[in-house]
Amino acid sequence: MHEDPNSEKDQKMLQTLGQLLQLTVFLSLFVLALLSYIAVFTQPKAWMTAWWTRMTSPKPELLLPPDPNPEPQLASWVAPSLDAVSDPRLRQQMEYGKELIAHTSKYFGPAGVIEKNRNNALNCQNCHLDAGTKFFGNNYSAVASIYPKFRARSGGIESVYKRVNDCIERSLNGKALDSGSAEMQAMVAYINFVGSNVPKGEVPEGSGLKKPTFLNRPADPVRGKLVYTDQCQSCHQADGQGLVVQGQGEYTYPPLWGSLSYNDGAGLYRLSNFAGYVKYNMPNGATHDAPLLSDENSWDVAAYVNSQPRPKMNIAKDWPDASKKPFDHPFGPFADGFSAEQHKYGPFGPIKAKIDAEKAKL
Ligand code: HEC
Ligand code: HEC
Repeated sequence: MHEDPNSEKDQKMLQTLGQLLQLTVFLSLFVLALLSYIAVFTQPKAWMTAWWTRMTSPKPELLLPPDPNPEPQLASWVAPSLDAVSDPRLRQQMEYGKELIAHTSKYFGPAGVIEKNRNNALNCQNCHLDAGTKFFGNNYSAVASIYPKFRARSGGIESVYKRVNDCIERSLNGKALDSGSAEMQAMVAYINFVGSNVPKGEVPEGSGLKKPTFLNRPADPVRGKLVYTDQCQSCHQADGQGLVVQGQGEYTYPPLWGSLSYNDGAGLYRLSNFAGYVKYNMPNGATHDAPLLSDENSWDVAAYVNSQPRPKMNIAKDWPDASKKPFDHPFGPFADGFSAEQHKYGPFGPIKAKIDAEKAKL
């Protein structure tokens, strides 16, 4: 019997295939071992973390809320109670966070017990009322659900830590906290807890600030001064410096301008934020369903207060894309052709219309 030459070829082929298979298995095992080694024994490098954050965070376009007043998706929101937190250590941390938000200046203000003069005289709660839980009182309901998010002001994706430091450097005219510090960790734990009953990606009604209707004239600081004298000065004082009871560690009535108030890079320095805050929250006790000021008075008093002296912030890096500036950001350069004066005092209707028209083109 003679050998079939084909069967010999087949056998060779089978042998080669077998070897190839062995090689593949070996290589896969090797790569697997290498990957596990990297995962277990080495610190992730900065670029890897950055890459991973980019891959896993939602796209900026999807994150941008449509307008100053984002469309609410949840009708009635009430903050959860800290009593619901059963882990005693977590609860203690959140209570510390709440305390820091309610009485910030006791810890970091002019007479701060952790560090004196690190911040101005304000508490977070002066602007985020009831420790960030009041309906249209600039509450934190949509922070845990929306962050990290893209913000045109910095031109990047911001974490909650970065957002809190924004307010510290601007509204509190102070020094940013290390994100690992006990104080920052506690505040963020509390803020995340406040929004923990809001589904990811959603913005409940009553979140943030509600903006009053635009005037069809510029807001008028001279009229605003009359509103101030009539409605604000009894608490915030004629000189706008507020009222402090010595030894109290914090202001009873916080300063509205001057060296101990928010700087010109702060959210309230934008007229629509100030007017919206004041219309639905001031004089202290006003609410969104029982406002005390008219739209006109809210805009005019905003113009008066925001034309008084206050600390300056270096905002050269803000809004790297000038076309993304909000209609009431008062510092140029502007991409829309309107003057700095109109960006500060209005009328805002025409600016907003132009911005919306540009957006619609995209
Ligand atoms: C002088 C007023 C003021 C003070 C004080 C202040 N903030 Fe704010 N904060 C604002 C305003 C106004 C906004 C909204 C700004 C905007 O939308 O442009 C804001 C926004 C925020 C947001 C984002 C909210 C959201 O829904 O996107 C967080 C978080 C925040 N502040 C935390 C803090 C913390 C924590 C402190 C204290 C360390 C603080 N703020 C102090 C005025 C203030
Ligand atoms: C009855 C006293 C009272 C009156 C009147 C009053 N406020 Fe206030 N205002 C307060 C108190 C108290 C806070 C801090 C609230 C808190 O921490 O819960 C505050 C906070 C503020 C803040 C945020 C903190 C800051 O210092 O920037 C602004 C802005 C403000 N008031 C503006 C006004 C304006 C404008 C008026 C007049 C239309 C006015 N307030 C009238 C008591 C008052």
